Amino acid sequence: MSLLSALSIVCGLMLQLYFSLLSAQYCVPRKTVFYQSNLKLFKEDGIFNYSTMLIRDDLGVLLLGAREAIYALDINNISVQKAAVYWGVPEEKQRECTYKGKLAEVECRNYIRTLLSVNDTTVYVCGTNAFSPTCDYMTFANGQLTLKGKQEEGKGKCPFDPFQRYSSLMVGECQHRRVHVWHNIRAPYLVHLFSGTSSLCI
Ligand SMILES: *[C@@H]1O[C@H](CO)[C@@H](O)[C@H](O)[C@H]1NC(C)=O
Ligand SMILES: *[C@@H]1O[C@H](CO)[C@@H](O)[C@H](O)[C@H]1NC(C)=O
Ligand SMILES: *[C@@H]1O[C@H](CO)[C@@H](O)[C@H](O)[C@H]1NC(C)=O
Repeated sequence: MSLLSALSIVCGLMLQLYFSLLSAQYCVPRKTVFYQSNLKLFKEDGIFNYSTMLIRDDLGVLLLGAREAIYALDINNISVQKAAVYWGVPEEKQRECTYKGKLAEVECRNYIRTLLSVNDTTVYVCGTNAFSPTCDYMTFANGQLTLKGKQEEGKGKCPFDPFQRYSSLMVGECQHRRVHVWHNIRAPYLVHLFSGTSSLCI
């Protein structure tokens, strides 16, 4: 082995050590749940695709988005369902979706894929909504989850296709208006959503 390659291996190892120390420092989990024999489980009959989660320590709940349902689970015992709200697809909308060549029971349902905190009381929720992504505001108050029924355009904030890998992020404040920055792993772009007018600038 040449001196150069030996050196590069040593450097590589040191770098790896450096980054693992760095990540250990910055990746402190917000909540640690110790594995015990009594592992807790949440499941509701007839509901599938539990794909989106948001921890709200301040409200004491884990918000969980599934197919056509959102749950508020007790953060200390996720088997305890504190509230639920259902967001299905109207028949007419489902029919329109099948005209696009999509399968009624697969793509033409509403998969909740985005849950982001807006402020102390409100969460922004988006679903694929039968291949026509739609967003709404949701509150958890007095033990109830409530969708506000705003039904905003969700294009660029939520995928059309429930099988698409996806993540989103909300950051920052801009002057007097809240700025939401979204990042889509498949096609990176930024969307600024201004609250109040809810206009989009891409
Ligand atoms: C939803 O869940 C069902 C049952 O587990 C699975 O067959 C299907 O592939 C899932 N769909 C998506 C979009 O993940
Ligand atoms: C969690 O909640 C479930 C359902 O209410 C209950 O059966 C179980 O005992 C609870 N577990 C703990 C550790 O409190
Ligand atoms: C939280 O945000 C929602 C949606 O923008 C707004 O209607 C509500 O007034 C806000 N609440 C607080 C306490 O700021």
